[in-house]
Amino acid sequence: MKILLTGGTGGLGREIVRAAEDAGHTVRVASRRARPDDAPAGREWARMDVETGAGVREALAGVDAVIHAASDPKRHAVVDVQGTRRLAEAARAAGTAHLVYVSIVGIDQIPFAYYRAKLAAEQVVAASGVPHSILRATQFHSLVDAMLSGFARTPLVLPLPKTFRFQSVATSEAAERLVRAVKAGPGGRLPDFGGPEVLTLGEMAEAWKAARGIRRPTVHLPLPGPLAAAFRAGKNTSDGERGTIRWHDWLRDPAQVARS
Ligand SMILES: NC(=O)c1ccc[n+]([C@@H]2O[C@H](COP(=O)([O-])OP(=O)(O)OC[C@H]3O[C@@H](n4cnc5c(N)ncnc54)[C@H](OP(=O)(O)O)[C@@H]3O)[C@@H](O)[C@H]2O)c1
Repeated sequence: MKILLTGGTGGLGREIVRAAEDAGHTVRVASRRARPDDAPAGREWARMDVETGAGVREALAGVDAVIHAASDPKRHAVVDVQGTRRLAEAARAAGTAHLVYVSIVGIDQIPFAYYRAKLAAEQVVAASGVPHSILRATQFHSLVDAMLSGFARTPLVLPLPKTFRFQSVATSEAAERLVRAVKAGPGGRLPDFGGPEVLTLGEMAEAWKAARGIRRPTVHLPLPGPLAAAFRAGKNTSDGERGTIRWHDWLRDPAQVARS
């Protein structure tokens, strides 16, 4: 199949390219950037911006399916909501047979502006008239890694909300699941896809410190409010399908970490 992949230059997108090409598909990477000189010959490229609509119609020409993984948490209203609407309308006009949307577990239960935008984008896809699948994934291991690096900017100690819970998943496994969804055809809202285990951020931080050679003590950072309460309650976790790569193993696998 020929797959148009929005967000194909992002952390998840790069893994989707790998998984889709390994499965024998042709990928057309959609990006606001120019095709890099070192892109392999068999990989197609489309300059496209979902915010302005530039290149969207041309990018959709002749593809069998679209995986829509483009997103911008800082500009979610124009990129995630309006951009998804623009893409879905163009896909309907083009007669696209399958639009696969990448979403996030718990977005309907966690009071966070970016998640509200993801929920609105899901609704746009579901109402678009384009045959579709929606896959909600849990946070990626690479996101937790980046989050812990952010907390570690404080000198001497590692302050973090230790009781937050995560069921993080490897992007490689989320990517493989999305490629399977393309092959299976339009399935509507698919079972959630998450990591193999639920851990507290405190537990994750201990493994992360060991893997990174960081010795400073972790200090609990109590965070007030409904958003923090949702992460403490694990509203971002799910009993759905699970990947197999555990946080501890991901941290110890340089190939996985390098991919993030
Ligand atoms: N990170 C997580 O933990 C997590 C967990 C579950 C689900 N997800 C979802 O997975 C998807 C991918 O996340 P990610 O973390 O891999 O993203 P990412 O690394 O931040 O990449 C974002 C991508 O969006 C593209 N993009 C941004 N604005 C665009 C625009 N106006 N037009 C076209 N493309 C645009 C970028 O492409 P160019 O810069 O090349 O144009 C880039 O490839 C998102 O839908 C996200 O909500 C993420």
